Amino acid sequence: MTDSPTPAPPVLHGERVTLRPLEESDVELLAEAVPADESAAPWWGTEPDKVRRWLTEERSTGLAIDVGDSLVGAILYSEETDPDYRSAGIDIVVLAPYSGRGLGPDALRTLARYLFEVRGHHRISIDPAAKNANAIRAYEKVGFRPVGIMRRYERGPDGQWRDGLLMEMLDEEFQHE
Ligand SMILES: CC(C)(COP(=O)(O)OP(=O)(O)OC[C@H]1O[C@@H](n2cnc3c(N)ncnc32)[C@H](O)[C@@H]1OP(=O)(O)O)[C@@H](O)C(=O)NCCC(=O)NCCS
Repeated sequence: MTDSPTPAPPVLHGERVTLRPLEESDVELLAEAVPADESAAPWWGTEPDKVRRWLTEERSTGLAIDVGDSLVGAILYSEETDPDYRSAGIDIVVLAPYSGRGLGPDALRTLARYLFEVRGHHRISIDPAAKNANAIRAYEKVGFRPVGIMRRYERGPDGQWRDGLLMEMLDEEFQHE
C-alpha cells in the first residue's frame, strides 16, 4: 500500500481486459463514439465536449479498457485522500458493440483489486442513475451493494434532474481470489 495521492496511472490486466492510461487519441475517439452510442448516451451524455471533460477531469484518473487491440470503453477512478474519509469512486463506459459480454464487470473487478490491494482503500463507491438497470445489475455482479437513492442527483441529457443510486463495496465484500 502507498499513501501517494497521485500515483502514475497503472496498467492492469484482468481476465480479458487490459486497463491502461487513456491517451489523447482514446479521449477523442470516445468523445465521438459515446454520444453516438444508444446505450451509453442516456447515461454519459450526448455532447462530445462533456464526455471529453469527464474523461480528462483532473480529480480522476482515466484508463482505457482494451480487449486485444480494440478500445472497448473507459473506466475512471477518483480517490478521497483525507485519511478520515479515505475511499475511492469509479465510473465506467463500455461501448454497445462490446457490452453484455461481461467485459464491464471484468474491468471493474480488475480496478477494484488495484484500489483495495495496492492503494489500500477499504471502500469503493459507484453511483449509477437509479433507472440504469443494466449498470446496477453489472455492479451487483462485482459485489457492489445498493445503499440508497440520491434524489435529483444528476442532470440527464434531457435537462431534467434525475435520481442516482449510491452503491458501495467494502474490502471484505470483494472476492479477491
Ligand atoms: C453498464 C456497463 C458498464 C456494464 O458492462 P457490460 O460489459 O455490458 O456488463 P455485462 O456484460 O455483465 O452486462 C451486465 C448485464 O446487463 C446486460 N446488458 C448490458 N448491456 C446491455 C445492453 N446494452 N442492452 C441490454 N442488456 C445489456 C447484460 O446482458 C448483463 O445482464 P445479465 O447479468 O443478466 O447477464 C455497460 O453496459 C455500459 O457501459 N453501458 C452504457 C454506459 C453506462 O450505463 N455506464 C454506467 C454509468 S454509471
